[in-house]
Amino acid sequence: MIPANVIEDIRTRNDVEDVISSYVTLKRAGKNLKGLCPFHSEKTPSFVVYGDTQSFYCFGCGAGGDVISFIMRQENLDYVSAIDFLAKRAGITLPDFDSKTEKAGTSRARVLQMNVEAAKFYRNMLFDDKIGANARKYLINKRELTSAVVKTFGIGYAPAGYRSLRDHLKGLGYSYEEMADASLCAKNERGYYDYFRDRVIFPIIDVSGNVVGFGGRAMTDDVKPKYLNSTDSPAFKKTKNLFALNFAKNYSADLMVVCEGYMDAIAIHSAGIKCAVATLGTALTSDHARIIKKYTDHVVLSYDSDEPGQKATERALRSLSEVGIDAKILAIDGGVKDPDEYIKKYGVERFKRLLENSKPKFDFFLDSIKKKYDLSNTDEKIKASSDVCGYIASIYSKVERDVYVAKTAEFLNVDRKSVETDVDNIIRRFRKNEKKKSSGELIRSTSGLSDRVNPDFAKDPYEARLEEDILGMILTYPELLTRKTDGKELSAEDFKTTLGNRLFTFIKDNSGESGFSISLLSSVFSPEEVSRAVKMQIRRREVTNNESTFDEYVKALRRQNDIQKSEESLEDLIAKKKRNKIKYIDGE
Ligand code: GTP
Ligand code: MN
Repeated sequence: MIPANVIEDIRTRNDVEDVISSYVTLKRAGKNLKGLCPFHSEKTPSFVVYGDTQSFYCFGCGAGGDVISFIMRQENLDYVSAIDFLAKRAGITLPDFDSKTEKAGTSRARVLQMNVEAAKFYRNMLFDDKIGANARKYLINKRELTSAVVKTFGIGYAPAGYRSLRDHLKGLGYSYEEMADASLCAKNERGYYDYFRDRVIFPIIDVSGNVVGFGGRAMTDDVKPKYLNSTDSPAFKKTKNLFALNFAKNYSADLMVVCEGYMDAIAIHSAGIKCAVATLGTALTSDHARIIKKYTDHVVLSYDSDEPGQKATERALRSLSEVGIDAKILAIDGGVKDPDEYIKKYGVERFKRLLENSKPKFDFFLDSIKKKYDLSNTDEKIKASSDVCGYIASIYSKVERDVYVAKTAEFLNVDRKSVETDVDNIIRRFRKNEKKKSSGELIRSTSGLSDRVNPDFAKDPYEARLEEDILGMILTYPELLTRKTDGKELSAEDFKTTLGNRLFTFIKDNSGESGFSISLLSSVFSPEEVSRAVKMQIRRREVTNNESTFDEYVKALRRQNDIQKSEESLEDLIAKKKRNKIKYIDGE
């Protein structure tokens, strides 16, 4: 455990307003700062930073915390690494904590060290005369990579045995458990064994140059799966990492090309187009989109020409438009599947032409409609029109909708006005449904039925709410912990919900002379639970005259608990009476 005073020191030297401002554009709103939430997509700001309590809270998605939990979320770090990150930022040298005893599992830093060793090992194996011969043949002859490209991307080879990397890392002092945490080994009943075997290996490197994970490709078609990726580890989340971003980040201001596969990104780079990245066998998520947005506003999607590729394109367009990126689409033609095959077959120049001819998404969409329907047939034309209008109706911007309405009228050769009316009707229908849906959600969330963070809330919402209000006050004024209400301090017994009870116990155990710091919560509680705690605190922040308010709430809580107890005993009493009666009848 990192000592509380060290954490406090890091916190005071990393002002929450400063730190968050370096990620989010914030405007002053009274005492606080406000901006667009970095954790969900929104168009009007509901993300508030509180200088006085050094915390943040989003009224849209409910994310909240302090500077440490902000960094954990934003930089995708675990608790210890986030502290390390902020220490570095403030120029503090941390004493060497044994991070293994900190939490179950291996620290991010340790995983990163192991990954570097693994990458070196795989590279050496690829260049080993005998062991790497087959893999070199695969890369150079079959995939037509130059050895310069192989070196630039740090491509390697994982040997066929079950213990090659395992024994190598063991020799360097890493334990099998650590290797498993890093997703370099797996475990079965016979023990630990190499996760990647007989595959060419692509290291996945983040923008700071850390090797965060690996992708391994089988060299023959009969081996399944074709690609094997690192599973998520303290250093790696596949929904957040992009392959080749470490190279592309410096060349992407004007344009970033996003494709599906490792080999596609590598082929595009080899063609001298250095702004290509690839997702790692997943759809482009909104996390990816936010990361891309840090580097560019202009994206070309260069996905496979097959059906899944087209589906993936549509999803990617949606994720990107959430962050305000208007992507264009490169259509692979010529009977090949992906950019890699295209460049191999038709050469770099023709690929560059495709890139220049990338189409805005609406043109691309109309193309797909043209392929799907026979527009000379009246029935099909009506279906096509309804598809197109549905698409236009889903667009947020009125200006954009108007442009598309005009294009559609021309495309279908119909009157502009009628397209417009159809679109408006669909929008009206959408809104009606939305309203219904959101009022349903509101009822659920206020009655606590969908409360996953504090699942006990629904059992007795009135009592749970009192608990949360009291915890909110304590979080702001820890001195209330020792206040005697009716002659008695609050105790864990007063808290009946699991979350309330855990929070109270933790706060009580971890309050020192300088009070309590919400930073400590992140070491034990989940991000959602921390967010909830901050919400409790924020709800109470405007309340003055604390002591008497506090007393009132504590009394109310105790009264509520007493009522419950007496209800229980009343039930006991009735049950007992029933039993006695039966006896009595028996005795007759
Ligand atoms: P090559 O055949 O090597 O050219 O691969 P590709 O990139 O053309 O393959 P494909 O279009 O089939 O897949 C695109 C990307 O999806 C790959 O680069 C991988 O990241 C991922 N992928 C493909 N197959 C698998 C698989 O079997 N398992 C996993 N986890 N990912 C895969
Ligand atoms: Mn391919």
